[in-house]
Amino acid sequence: MANISVLGAGSWGTALAVLLCKNGHKVTLWSYRNDQTEELRRTHKNESKLPGVLLPEKLIYTSSIEEAATGKDLIVFAVPSKATRKTALNFKPFIHNQKIITVAKGIEEDTLMLQGEILEDVFKDEATVGVLSGPSHAEEVVLLQPTVVVIGSKDRNLCVFAQELFMNDSFRVYISPDIRGIEIGGSLKNVIALAAGMADGLGFGDNAKAALITRGIKEISNLAIAMGASSETLAGLSGIGDLIVTCESRHSRNRRAGVLIGQGMKMQEAMDKVAMIVEGVYSAKAAKALGEKYGIELPIIEEVNRILFCDADPRESVLSLMKRDKKSEISAPDWD
Ligand SMILES: NC(=O)c1ccc[n+]([C@@H]2O[C@H](COP(=O)([O-])OP(=O)(O)OC[C@H]3O[C@@H](n4cnc5c(N)ncnc54)[C@H](O)[C@@H]3O)[C@@H](O)[C@H]2O)c1
Repeated sequence: MANISVLGAGSWGTALAVLLCKNGHKVTLWSYRNDQTEELRRTHKNESKLPGVLLPEKLIYTSSIEEAATGKDLIVFAVPSKATRKTALNFKPFIHNQKIITVAKGIEEDTLMLQGEILEDVFKDEATVGVLSGPSHAEEVVLLQPTVVVIGSKDRNLCVFAQELFMNDSFRVYISPDIRGIEIGGSLKNVIALAAGMADGLGFGDNAKAALITRGIKEISNLAIAMGASSETLAGLSGIGDLIVTCESRHSRNRRAGVLIGQGMKMQEAMDKVAMIVEGVYSAKAAKALGEKYGIELPIIEEVNRILFCDADPRESVLSLMKRDKKSEISAPDWD
């Protein structure tokens, strides 16, 4: 039995805490809000995030940073990506020789760092860092529906250790050293999911969605490979796998926000209506900056940025994607 803390009592943090608890571990779920911790402790439910789910009796709740950080075999960062650095800085005084896994998805706007890089930046040599990613909606994981993810870290021992803790008959875990590829796939799929939602909101059909998914993974792959990732990762669970689920699923908040924008709402209105952090909006800007930094063309991501931040009309953006220069699908065509 391992002693594990999960930071962030949102949908994903709570679902993973339930999973780890069911796997027989001692699990502490930390929330930055005292009132949320008290409610969880009192009701054994996280009704606003996972309606109808009864949380295990053994789950421990706290808002104390010291309690959540001390003596843990593993700490899971499940706060929204925008809160990762701040949370890490608050935990820093208590983190020594610690194994950490982040499950958040997003790129920091001003530094262009991925989640694992932020944790390494804050904790330096005091932590070994990994990521967990893949097609995994919290709502399905708590219902023990078959889910397959990947854990990545430069440290093989951390991968194997975390794989052992998370894996069970309904939750299968692969491991990989390609943390960068995993994180780029996980972050940029939210931007493409916004576009897929916009296509739905505009009333387009399956053809448009399939085109966005396939050309979207091409963009993500081009950028990720330029940043040193493996193409296999982008063809894997955290790449095409997560992109498909996010572009298709009714659970995806990024897709939902995209639908509202496609139907005519402005970005802020759509975010307010979804009432959750729409990480794709922040990752869109960062992705565009990364494309410029690495000299990679990202046409769909460019158009999403124009819609979100320059008031472009989604219908015009579709037209401008359709009217791009004629191209070959293969980068080095060989007609012989
Ligand atoms: N929900 C999923 O199914 C799912 C699956 C895979 C990955 N993720 C990723 O996990 C991360 C968390 O997602 P979620 O769905 O649980 O989010 P959520 O919106 O359901 O909840 C986020 C929780 O984080 C906490 N929080 C909010 N602001 C905070 C702050 N400033 N400091 C500390 N804690 C704060 C709150 O307790 C809040 O309930 C995201 O990066 C998301 O992309 C989510």
